[in-house]
Amino acid sequence: MQLVRLERRGDVAVLTIANPPVNAIGTAVVAGLASAIDRFEADRSYKALLVHCDGSTFVAGGDIGSFDDPGFSAAPFNATLDRIETLDRPVVASLHGSVLGGGLELALACHWRVALPSTKLGMPEVKLGLLPGSLGTQRLPRVAGIKLALDMISTGRNISAQAAKDAGIIDEVSDGVPLETGLAFAQALISRGGAARRISTLIIPPGGIEADFFATAANDARTKKSFYPAAAAIVQAVQASTLPFKDGAAVEARLFEELRQSRESMALRHLFFAECEAAKVPGLAKDVKTRPITKVGIVGAGTMGGGIAMNFANAGIQTVLVETSQAALERGLGMMKGNYEASAAKGRLTTQQVSQRMALLTGSLDYAALSDCDLVIEAVFENMELKKQICARLGQVCKSGAIIATNTSTLDVDVLAQATARAQDVVGMHFFSPANVMRLLEVVRGAQTAPDVLATVMQLARKIGKVAVVSGVCYGFIGNRMAEVYMREAEFLLMEGATPSQIDGAVESLGMAMGPCRMLDMAGIDVGAKTVIEYGKAGGLPPDPTYRAVVRRMFELGRFGQKTGAGYYRYEGRKPEEDPETARIAKELAGTHGIAQRSEISRQEIIERLLYPLINEGFKIFEEGIAWRPGDIDVVWTAGYGFPDHKGGPMFYADSLGLGVIADRMAHYAATRGNAYGYWTLSPLLQKQAGERKQLIDSKAGTS
Ligand code: 3HC
Ligand code: NAI
Repeated sequence: MQLVRLERRGDVAVLTIANPPVNAIGTAVVAGLASAIDRFEADRSYKALLVHCDGSTFVAGGDIGSFDDPGFSAAPFNATLDRIETLDRPVVASLHGSVLGGGLELALACHWRVALPSTKLGMPEVKLGLLPGSLGTQRLPRVAGIKLALDMISTGRNISAQAAKDAGIIDEVSDGVPLETGLAFAQALISRGGAARRISTLIIPPGGIEADFFATAANDARTKKSFYPAAAAIVQAVQASTLPFKDGAAVEARLFEELRQSRESMALRHLFFAECEAAKVPGLAKDVKTRPITKVGIVGAGTMGGGIAMNFANAGIQTVLVETSQAALERGLGMMKGNYEASAAKGRLTTQQVSQRMALLTGSLDYAALSDCDLVIEAVFENMELKKQICARLGQVCKSGAIIATNTSTLDVDVLAQATARAQDVVGMHFFSPANVMRLLEVVRGAQTAPDVLATVMQLARKIGKVAVVSGVCYGFIGNRMAEVYMREAEFLLMEGATPSQIDGAVESLGMAMGPCRMLDMAGIDVGAKTVIEYGKAGGLPPDPTYRAVVRRMFELGRFGQKTGAGYYRYEGRKPEEDPETARIAKELAGTHGIAQRSEISRQEIIERLLYPLINEGFKIFEEGIAWRPGDIDVVWTAGYGFPDHKGGPMFYADSLGLGVIADRMAHYAATRGNAYGYWTLSPLLQKQAGERKQLIDSKAGTS
């Protein structure tokens, strides 16, 4: 297929990029651009050049996959942009869709820009741990001003076509077909004798920003975004736009290359593709017909039910919540209204939007209200007997073809599916708290889940703005199964004498959003303890009396975490404070169970004991086919559990550390702590890969 075409339309040469799905710029497109420019240069009968793209979008960026090539260089594309800018006849870019990164850089090398009203423009490279490497840091400040340019490049946010026009980034907003609006603009330009304009020749006037603007920005980047080297580099590159163009360009080129090779950027690029991959379900035919979802029912309007309902109302889908009492229903609906009003107070929603969303949410005490729903999600207490009863009832009440989903955190989805007596319609939809905020949705495929049910839920997830990952059935699925071993070690460390803040501080020093103690205090120690108790009832726990002893004791004492003002920490509002009572409880448990306390537990030991068993569990999950790809596990932990994205998720991190290191340290803990319950037993896959000095990405395990 020809990726770049040059065709005549009267006096105008039309350069079309056709590289689906998003017209990303790679080596072949750059070569195509260069040859099209050669032809345009050679034919003096053309009066203008129009650059536009086929398909749903203008160029949405450089080809992210190509950044991993050892021989990658931004220089050929940059030289091509230079050639476009120096052309002596006017060059117009006609923009539509997502004009991002290298796409906006291409547009800025053109002399004039016209965009459809729906166009979004931005430089999202920072999200990949990069900065714009094709002169975006130099050209954008020259048209948009330093402040807006630094803001756009540092946040990676998109702006609308109108905002871009107001900021001087584009010249006209015009509705229609991109090729035709571009041609009309170019012809008008020719008629009025419009000439070439070159952003690189503009000089940013001194002043306009505070004297300490760059110093403050650099300091903020270093202190508030210390895990992300791109943040400080972006400030430096944008500051260099005040230098002569070629000097600034040299600064940008050096910084881009450093970032491209950084671990952080590699990790973030890995996650970009892992998220794209996660949406693909192996073995599911592309043309499988999905079931229409126009009305959703939710059983239980508690913490999760309420948050889940908001997702659907936000997407304009009518939602009914069923509860056991009027009081519970009103509490749930009140919580949703309160959340929406808080968003309105922050200017994120209009009062009209609040009313529209609340109008989509209704409540009922009668299961009959669920009979016309296309999807019903149960979100009642984590109790197998109760959930089985509810599922049996849903199997009867729900209309034929309706999907029945469970939001269980840990329970066996196949058992619940059997209870409905229509297992093919059943799937797990495991949302994360707060369900209206967290991006992750674990989609749990049961043994009998129908392909169209899986496809419908994956499509719906996208519609409500979630990143969905498919998991097989096992205790806790991907995320909570790994969290279980992480919590196990956190509790052992507490009993050995570490404080909650030492434990949390150790993993937070790696960039974890929140350590395990703060996390459970927030999610609710009662929720965590009940899960462990249920698992015990199902015979899943090891015969170890010390297993998760702390969470159970805290639960007995009514220390449920933030909601009761005390858990692992004590709370002043939402602020956690170290609580001597926790140390006392842990010491008492250590005494009861004969666990020796130590005055000094190193940060490194805490990190290893929390993360290496978690990684080991991830290997087992992959090996057993519960997760299809290591990247799926990484998406679960970064999108759902605050694992640092700059480390790429636990499985990518494991490869970065070296599997041999993990295997050695697991062996060390097995020897020093004992391994009676198999806590330190390596997954066969981890053992094999480490033994062969290979990485996880080299393995072919899994079921895909
Ligand atoms: N490079 C390579 N592949 C890309 C890509 C890119 N820049 N952008 C998207 N793709 C791929 C996706 O991986 C996906 O592939 P798949 O079909 O095999 O899974 C496919 O294009 C479609 O992507 P989406 O499913 O995300 O499509 P949407 O329609 O939902 O979204 C989009 C489109 C808004 C363009 C979104 O894909 C996006 O945000 N892409 C990333 C844009 C970006 O980061 N650009 C900057 C790149 S870095 C750069 O330009 C450096 C420069 O300064 C030199
Ligand atoms: P919750 O206690 O806040 O809410 C449960 C709601 O279910 C209550 O309002 C209760 O009145 C209602 N309920 C109980 N029996 C009912 C019945 N027969 N009919 C209708 N409503 C009934 O619990 P939460 O935290 O919302 O948890 C719900 C489910 O979500 C559980 O399975 C839990 O494991 C899971 N989950 C919880 C997460 C969390 O962080 N809280 C995260 C992800 C999943």
